[in-house]
Amino acid sequence: MNVDIEKAKGREVYNLLIGLVAPRPIAWVTTMSEDGRLNAAPFSAYNYVCTDPPIVAMGVTNRPDDIFVPKDTARNIRRTGEFVINVVTEDLMSQMNICATDFPPEVNELEMAGLTTAPSSVVKVPRIQQAHAALECVEHTTMEIGRSRIILGRVVSIYVEDQFIDPAGPYVRAEELHAIGRMNGLGSYVRTRDALLTMPRISYDEWKAGKR
Ligand SMILES: Cc1cc2nc3c(=O)[nH]c(=O)nc-3n(C[C@H](O)[C@H](O)[C@H](O)COP(=O)(O)O)c2cc1C
Repeated sequence: MNVDIEKAKGREVYNLLIGLVAPRPIAWVTTMSEDGRLNAAPFSAYNYVCTDPPIVAMGVTNRPDDIFVPKDTARNIRRTGEFVINVVTEDLMSQMNICATDFPPEVNELEMAGLTTAPSSVVKVPRIQQAHAALECVEHTTMEIGRSRIILGRVVSIYVEDQFIDPAGPYVRAEELHAIGRMNGLGSYVRTRDALLTMPRISYDEWKAGKR
């Protein structure tokens, strides 16, 4: 199958792209409106893009029913300049999914999912208390491209529960954190529980010495 993007419907492009650029990490984003109302929603058009400075990128498409209305997350970030990315782990999957429901802006998704918040270290927006790790971010840039916004956030503080940290690095104990990834648009996710392969990088000296 070859798909000419010029002729394809938006939904077809979405289905194919999210099925092929996979698995993806999920940013479970908490934000606050100017008057302090809390909001939470998941976004898998997400990754870090550099570490010096530490920048994450997130793609937020406008609400499907109206090309001009941004999702609450994008609107709050533009107005307050702050957000927190909570890491989605297996134990919190169904709560994350509840937060993707298209609730009206006055509804606090975290309450609907039975979750609570904890204060962040640097930003005003709280993190999700039950999440085992979170990145506090300030908005660096929001690019408006067509019906979408690409939000770049500078990470200003990182929270990880001690049990998931190997202090030697410090490294994240990925084999214990059990983060999940999103696959296609049919509700498929991957576990990282059994899927870890270890493959250290090869230095040039090792390569020359014939170590493969
Ligand atoms: C796992 C998952 C990943 C999602 N990723 C995105 C995404 O990358 N971009 C997007 O615009 N919507 C994405 N959504 C849909 C939003 O979470 C959904 O539209 C949500 O209601 C937006 O909430 P808000 O208006 O409170 O910001 C995703 C949904 C799920 C379940």
